[in-house]
Amino acid sequence: MTQPSTSDTREYESARERVEELRTQIRYHDYRYYTLAEPEIGDSQYDAMMRELRAVEEQHPELITPDSPTQRVSGEPAEGFAVVEHREPMLSLSNVFDREELLAWQRRMTRLIEREDFTYVCEPKIDGLAISLVYRGGHFEYGATRGDGLRGEDITSNLRTIRSIPLVLQADPDSLPPAFEVRGEVYLSKEEFRRLNEQRAEAGEQLYMNPRNTAAGSLRQLDPRVTASRRLDVFIYQLGWVEGERPVASHSEAIAWLRSLGFTTNPLTETFNDVDRVATFCENWVERRDGLEYEIDGVVIKVDDLATQRALGVVGREPRWATAWKFPAEQAVTRLNAIQVSVGRTGVLTPFAVLEPVFVGGVTVSMATLHNLDHVRELDIRAGDDVIVQRAGDVIPQVVGPVLSRREGRDLPIFEMPETCPVCGTPVAHDEGEAAYYCPNRQCPTKLARLIEHFTSRYALDIEGFGEERSAMLVDRGFVTSLADLYDLPGKREQLLEVEGIGPKTVDAMFAELEKSKTQPLHRLLIALGIRHVGGETARALARHFGSMQALRDAAVEEIEAVDGIGPIVAEAVHDYLHDDEYAALIDALAERGLRMDEDIAARGGILEGETIVVTGSLDRWSRNEVEELIKSLGGKVTGSVSKKTSFVVAGEGGGSKRDKAETLGVELKDEAEFIALLEERGWSTDE
Ligand code: IVH
Repeated sequence: MTQPSTSDTREYESARERVEELRTQIRYHDYRYYTLAEPEIGDSQYDAMMRELRAVEEQHPELITPDSPTQRVSGEPAEGFAVVEHREPMLSLSNVFDREELLAWQRRMTRLIEREDFTYVCEPKIDGLAISLVYRGGHFEYGATRGDGLRGEDITSNLRTIRSIPLVLQADPDSLPPAFEVRGEVYLSKEEFRRLNEQRAEAGEQLYMNPRNTAAGSLRQLDPRVTASRRLDVFIYQLGWVEGERPVASHSEAIAWLRSLGFTTNPLTETFNDVDRVATFCENWVERRDGLEYEIDGVVIKVDDLATQRALGVVGREPRWATAWKFPAEQAVTRLNAIQVSVGRTGVLTPFAVLEPVFVGGVTVSMATLHNLDHVRELDIRAGDDVIVQRAGDVIPQVVGPVLSRREGRDLPIFEMPETCPVCGTPVAHDEGEAAYYCPNRQCPTKLARLIEHFTSRYALDIEGFGEERSAMLVDRGFVTSLADLYDLPGKREQLLEVEGIGPKTVDAMFAELEKSKTQPLHRLLIALGIRHVGGETARALARHFGSMQALRDAAVEEIEAVDGIGPIVAEAVHDYLHDDEYAALIDALAERGLRMDEDIAARGGILEGETIVVTGSLDRWSRNEVEELIKSLGGKVTGSVSKKTSFVVAGEGGGSKRDKAETLGVELKDEAEFIALLEERGWSTDE
């Protein structure tokens, strides 16, 4: 290596200083803009700083750090999201709808801890998605969705694109607890929602339903660039777990502290000592809500003092110390034009309401599920009725019931389930004592189309390009008469190209997706087959236990039932399915076409379970994304910065500062070959 000349060194030094300076300034202006909503400079000045930073970093790529403001969108699209276990469950909230219910909530607390003088903090209840963010050493480490409250999905790369989430906190790391979690709500502003929909309208694309759904969809994008284009926002509303000492004694102190660190908290928060005033505050919000930049569906009321919160505790999944004052659901009256029946992938017939389109709760509703015959009878709704439609903050519109006074004098027919399947005409079957009616015809075209949708869905084999319309087309035109036919589509390329609206790009993408799906692990195939009662949990349990389709097929009912978490009904359904001639033939046909029929040892053993691993530099065998996915799939945790808790650092070519840090902290370094050797030692094999 040649010695760098003095002028090179000087140039480098000044670039390094400039980069630091620009980053500090940009972070400060982000803080002014997002946290304080008091920008000091205009957009063009800000953009100029970003441009300069980008330019210097381009000249000196070795100066780029993951928390540079230029690195919010980084990494390749992911294959899926890893699961994150929340250290402390993410709870939900009980509801109150009026003053009386609020007072009852307060009385319950009083009864429990014999006190009535509470301080309450009231915050708008943002209609978005709950997230959890973990900071370590003053840096954003990872973030996750709420999921089921216990386990969520690792959406770090997507969260990094949200500009109001600080990557580096505004504090000396030594003054902070070593690590802590914050929680908040990600949302899409009404204006952004309008902007996106205008774009979509221009492009002739289907419009998004509402801001909440759009935000949810945006957060779960596999490609962070897509998320970045959606301009999501966040309000942080809670301090979660803290390693070391909790720096605050009340919720309001926590919020003030978080705000001082650069988190965006809701400025419309107010504190009261009197529950009656809380109620008035909530009542007033009902009118003010429409004037906000974002959608809210209520007000959250929290007891401020943390010691009191602890004394009150949690019942089930709801804290006793907090509640949500929910706004009345939005309702509208419209004509029920007809009650029709749809056929699902298992053949179950579901009645649904065909409505005169009506605008309610921010969306236009023209259809609503009616669940089953019993439900229709209970509500006593009939085609021709005027009905009340409700859309309560959530997604699915409901028919509440008929406006009976408007039925008077008209003789409307009581709804009956059809006697034959509306799609294939096969007589409908019904088990005595069960609510469901179903089409028993295995070849029923709609059933097959729905099954293809399910088979290809993200939770099953994750094959893109087989949505509702495409699946129906494939069945209607005879391209697919069984799931296995999907894999024969490449042989029908010419015929597919004759279908209107399908070009060579589309078919090739479909084929590539199908090919990719062949390597999906067994549990996904088990989900995809659509066996009764077999969802994700069950499929994973079966795949983990038996390891291969063959072993599962060889198992007796009792052996299946012996698997942890599987009961007799599920065991029997699985056994029946596998020993049904037609389904057995389907599985054979899928195996013949090259679908993978086993589970990787990762999911069975988790050979990196409990290890926290940092990857730095570039590896030969995998891209950065691939190796991170691999580690996660083997049960390990990947973090961005080296700390004492790091089990080891996988160091490829380059990767300077993390290597140094590891050496300083005495954390083990492994090169690529050593890492592979470790995996192999633990039973990993190259064909994974
Ligand atoms: S506090 C134990 N505060 O509402 C405290 N939640 O029904 C739990 N939400 O999952 C949450 N704004 O997604 C809290 N200011 C706020 C909120 C808020 C919206 C959501 C959050 C949570 C759900 C609870």
